[in-house]
Amino acid sequence: SLESAIRRGGASASSSRRFSSDSAPERKVAILGAAGGIGQPLSLLMKLNPLVSSLALYDIAGTPGVAADVSHINTRAEVVGYAGDEQLGKALDDSDVVIIPAGVPRKPGMTRDDLFNINAGIVKSLCTAISKYCPNAVVTMISNPVNSTVPIASEVFKKAGTYDERKLFGVTTLDVVRAKTFYAGKAKVPVAGVNVPVVGGHAGITILPLFSQATPASNDLSDDDIEALTKRTQDGGTEVVEAKAGKGSATLSMAYAGAIFADACLKGLNGVPDIVECSFVQSSITELPFFASKVRLGKNGLEEVLGLGPLSDYEKEGLEKLKPELKASIEKGIKFAQEN
Ligand code: NAI
Repeated sequence: SLESAIRRGGASASSSRRFSSDSAPERKVAILGAAGGIGQPLSLLMKLNPLVSSLALYDIAGTPGVAADVSHINTRAEVVGYAGDEQLGKALDDSDVVIIPAGVPRKPGMTRDDLFNINAGIVKSLCTAISKYCPNAVVTMISNPVNSTVPIASEVFKKAGTYDERKLFGVTTLDVVRAKTFYAGKAKVPVAGVNVPVVGGHAGITILPLFSQATPASNDLSDDDIEALTKRTQDGGTEVVEAKAGKGSATLSMAYAGAIFADACLKGLNGVPDIVECSFVQSSITELPFFASKVRLGKNGLEEVLGLGPLSDYEKEGLEKLKPELKASIEKGIKFAQEN
């Protein structure tokens, strides 16, 4: 149990490092799409996380190599690579957290919705396996379009009778990471202390950073500055897609963001209090069935969906503008899952 593990760690700890790895409960994390552009650096970062005791790396191919490589790192997690459909069950078995970065990324000129046809099918088949092999796991969805893949996952789980809205998260952490970086640069404050909530969804104008709630507050930013920061956050993914010129989308910053969110989920499961991140979840804070906002994570996954807080007029306008697009993306996902 967590308690006895903490007692054991507390009694024998010779250094804080030893304490953290000895005291944390056993946790298995599975990464689906682990050989990809996001999957590889994310595998590295999860291997470095002392809360992980078992790391399962799954992809259609290439994972034995990735697993052999990261397994040599002298940290706690035992790493196993799994390749191909027939090994998916073993990869998922007993997982506490499943991270899904499987699927194709954008090329210049593409929207996230252009990925729908390929990624919807991938997400559907992976979620079908999750409902079979680890129905209680926390699932963190990176595969785009997140605005549709999360509703697809929910429908797959509902069909299988395993849906628990507290266990399904769309990863929007990269939007927060970008908003923090861009805000710190513009407001000329140290980035380490910056916080910016980002709400709505994860595509274009559905990404709504709430700079009016940014901390530390800045009085130096004009309306034009806020608008430019908002647009840059919304187009941050496209900035990377264009710079990579056909070689994919954000992978390294996404791996960082995915690792931050998975770490928050693990801390929540382990009973660490006051773990709050933004995520795209089943929600009733607007009329839409799914919405990204600050959420509190705990032993059951999602413990509480936090409200939007006070919005500026510019943010209120952005909120109304994003709803039709987000609604359509959610409905497209639900329809796909129901018809396929
Ligand atoms: P990638 O093409 O480099 O890697 C994707 C991996 O998924 C490949 O290794 C591929 O073999 C694997 N894969 C394909 N079908 C699979 C299946 N059925 N089961 C298991 N693995 C499968 O792509 P990258 O750059 O890693 O991006 C992955 C996804 O993440 C894309 O959909 C991309 O749009 C999305 N993304 C999401 C972000 C977010 O903020 N949520 C940010 C950046 C990318």
